[in-house]
Amino acid sequence: MFKDDLLAGKRVLVTGGGTGIGRSITQRYMALGAHVVICGRREEVLAKTVAELVVLGRGSAEFIRCDIRDPDQVDAMLSAIWENGALDILVNNAAGNFTAPTESLSHRAVDAVLGIVLHGSAYATLGCGKRWLAAGHAGTVLSIVTTYAFTGSAFVVPSAMAKAGVLAMTRSLAVEWGGRGIRLNAIAPGPFPTEGAWERLVPKPELAKEFEEKNPLRRAGRHDELADLAAYLVCDQAAYINGECVTIDGGEWLQGAGQFNFLGRLMSAKDWQDVKAARK
Ligand code: HXC
Repeated sequence: MFKDDLLAGKRVLVTGGGTGIGRSITQRYMALGAHVVICGRREEVLAKTVAELVVLGRGSAEFIRCDIRDPDQVDAMLSAIWENGALDILVNNAAGNFTAPTESLSHRAVDAVLGIVLHGSAYATLGCGKRWLAAGHAGTVLSIVTTYAFTGSAFVVPSAMAKAGVLAMTRSLAVEWGGRGIRLNAIAPGPFPTEGAWERLVPKPELAKEFEEKNPLRRAGRHDELADLAAYLVCDQAAYINGECVTIDGGEWLQGAGQFNFLGRLMSAKDWQDVKAARK
């Protein structure tokens, strides 16, 4: 889809890049020539991912262990990265989430999700932004949010609150920093099955099928589809896209929104013919 050197020479940080969507984005960026630093809490997971992706032979990667809920760890990570050269791209991907009735949540449960998603994304974005602005270095931030960042969603309320905050940060800073060489955009994915998300978010395995059946395209998203979008939004050719949130969900959230959409499930072709005949 892209020229092989689309991201050649770019230095990238993907938070939570060891697994799931972050890993898929890392793999795509490496294939397009980038040097990608991935961070996360579990060193063995990060090391395994780097070892597996480097074998594919394109781009390069390294890892730094970092819990992005801790601002000191984030600052130390960014300082270590900058010692070898400025970053060009930050991908706020790391997330924490679980499905639960909201009234059952403790304050620690709320803090766990807000800490990773909202605070972690803010620490990483501010840390990169301050360094970029001080040096007059151009930079791009891509945040992975979700469609319920703008609709809200039952049973994932801390995540919805946190992702809405990340989207607000994206749109706010796109204006505040846009004139100084920093672009910020977001992607709102629908269902993209990953081990981490699916085992936490789908309360019963048999409900996973529901994500496919309720989608207008009758399937979940493929990681390569999301990774291609993530590559485009951070590349130099997307220079005029700033403050945008691109939804990639097969039309899932609109399916739930349109007042008459439910008719698609309940009306057969014969039913429609009967309705037409009755109106004549
Ligand atoms: C209720 C829960 C809970 C659950 C944890 N807690 N899981 N409460 N229901 N299922 C509570 C705990 O009881 C505890 O509160 C508090 O949360 C902190 O839990 P810990 O396990 O100590 O925290 P920690 O080890 O930091 O784990 C953070 C985490 C965990 C968010 C809870 O799930 C995690 O590390 N997740 C990272 C990976 C992940 O979630 N990926 C999916 C992202 S997908 P108490 O009061 O008992 O101490 C995503 C996109 C969504 O975000 C889009 C999908 C369509």
